[in-house]
Order: sequence, then structure tokens, then C-alpha cells
Amino acid sequence: MDALRQKYIDAIANVADESALEDLRVAAVGKKGEVSLKMRELGKMTPEERQVAGPKLNALKDEINSAIAAKKAALADAALDERLRSEWLDVTLPARTRPRGTIHPVSQVTEEVSAIFADMGFKVAEGPQIENDWYNFDALNIPPHHPARQEFDTFYMNRAEGDDRPPHVLRTHTSPVQIRAMEKTGAPIRVIAPGRVYRSDYDQTHTPMFHQVEGMAIGKDISMANLKWVLEEFFAAFFEIDGIKTRFRASHFPFTEPSAEVDIQCSWVDGQLRIGEGDGWMEVLGSGMMHPKVLQAGGIDPDKWQGFAFGMGIDRIAMLKYGIPDLRAFFDSDLRWLRHYGFGALDMPTLHGGLSR
Ligand code: PHE
Repeated sequence: MDALRQKYIDAIANVADESALEDLRVAAVGKKGEVSLKMRELGKMTPEERQVAGPKLNALKDEINSAIAAKKAALADAALDERLRSEWLDVTLPARTRPRGTIHPVSQVTEEVSAIFADMGFKVAEGPQIENDWYNFDALNIPPHHPARQEFDTFYMNRAEGDDRPPHVLRTHTSPVQIRAMEKTGAPIRVIAPGRVYRSDYDQTHTPMFHQVEGMAIGKDISMANLKWVLEEFFAAFFEIDGIKTRFRASHFPFTEPSAEVDIQCSWVDGQLRIGEGDGWMEVLGSGMMHPKVLQAGGIDPDKWQGFAFGMGIDRIAMLKYGIPDLRAFFDSDLRWLRHYGFGALDMPTLHGGLSR
């Protein structure tokens, strides 16, 4: 019995895995295991022999069973230790950086402009980029064959063969939104309309697609003085300088009378543009008092109401504010440019939080 004990205790100690351990269990204490067979022989013994051998065999069976249980636990512990060692993860390591996009300067500046005008009570209005002849031209007092139609370098959409209605156009300015907003809301009204516009033109300061923001305020006694105040207030907030000088130059647009082009004060120092100082001027927008015919086209009685309107280049003021020299690069989708001039998603412009980084 001692030999049997030694054999199994040693084998259990040296076993390498759970299945070999199970084989050992069957061989020792399974139904036909060596210890079990010995126990069956107890019946053939004399009562005296049995009294000695019985407890001994039972003790041996117990010892083997508990050695197997202990070994089983030890094997499981070792397996867990091995997993913990091989699957160990340092959660304090810095995270991998993930490439992230940036907010385009045009989007950023549009947000800035909207925040400033919202503070002055202007709502945002919208219109389609594919516009019809009426909204883009006629309603704005630009009848067919008016020379102003030529000045716009308009993109025309195709008409089906035999359809001789005037073709739709890619809107050449945001001014058609004036008409749409008047139709929708009536007077009094105060809106801006930022968005894309199109003209067939391409050089350092012109791209066939660019952005404007239209402004319009209609009331009982809105005047050029209100226009001037609103614009000066806007430029001071936008360029974050107090007191910026503007220059109103008499001009002509079919949809405003009188009309003015507006310049802001600037200077060039060592090839660098500085806004709000010096004795240079930079043209930034067209404006004027809304023409009575335009109010009428929008369904508003020009004998009761009057208003101002302006149209400003968003890309242009973005270039001025952020020192971007070439407009064409805005729309090249060059990642290096976008990373350099782009804004973080959380740099949201607010009047109280500051408009730029
Ligand atoms: N629509 C004009 C342009 O694109 C700008 C403008 C808007 C002028 C409103 C006067 C009033 O040039």
C-alpha cells in the first residue's frame, strides 16, 4: 500500500496539465482504479485483516483525492498567473493620437459673423444655391438685358430642349435671400443670410464659388445712419479692436438707392496688413437703402417701410482677419493648409468667450 501511495502522490506532483491529472484520477480511484480494486479485495479478507486494511485504504483514497484537488487548484492558479502575465495592459500609457479634422476658416468666420449680428437682433435666413431668374435678378430690379446681368459672370443651368423659360442660375450673390426673407416674414425684419455664391472668375482673390453674407433691416424709419452704426459695430467686434474707421463711397447697385461701397481703414507695415490703423483703405462690402421696387417685389409696401441692405464677402474678411494671402487655397482641400489655418472643433466663437483663439 505504501508503494501504491508513493506512486500516485509522486505522479500527481509531477503532472503537467488537467487532462493528465484526470487520467491519474481514473487510474487510481476511478471505478477500475488500482485503489478501488484493492478496496474490493477487502471482502475476501478475514475480519481482523479487514479492520487494519479498511481504514488504511480509505485514508489512502482520501489522501489521493485531496492531492488531486490541491493539484487541480494549483494548475488553475498557474494558468491564471500566466494569463495575467501575458495579457497585462498598462492603462497609464498615453492614448494613440487619432487624426482629427479642423473647422474651415469659412465656417469659423460664418459662425463669428452670425454671433455678432445675432447680438444685434438679426436672425439667420437661407435660400437655395440654384436660384431662378426672378429671385437672382428681376426681383432685385435687374430686368433682362440690364447691363448688370453681364457684370455677374453668371453660371446658367441647362434647360431641356424646347423649354424656353429663362434658365435657373447658380446664385451670383446672397441678395435673392432678401426677397425670400421678405416674402416669408414681412416687415419689420432684421436678417443676415450667409452662404455660397457663384461667378465665373478665377485669380488670387476670386474663385468660381465663394461666400457672402447678406444683411437686411426693414423698419418704419431705418436709415443710412443705422447701416453705418451696424457695420462699424460689426467690424469693431469682428476684428476685436475698438473704433474702426469706415469709408462710404457712393456707388451703384440696381437694388439699392442710394448705394455705397464700404472700405475699412488699414495699413501695410513691412508687407503685413494691419486693420484699423493707418491711412489705407480696403473694400469689404456693397450696401445701400433698399430700392422701393425691391421692397415691392418682396411684398412690402415701400410707402410704409424702408430698410438697408448690404452684401459682404466672407472669404475676404476671413483673409483679412487671419492673414491668409490667397483665396484659391481656401478650396484646394490641401490638408497642410487645413491643419494650419483650420480651427479646433471646440473653438466656438461667442461674443463673451472671444471670437478667435
Ligand atoms: N449683391 C451685391 C454684390 O454681390 C452686394 C450688395 C448687397 C450691394 C446688398 C448692396 C446691397 O455685389
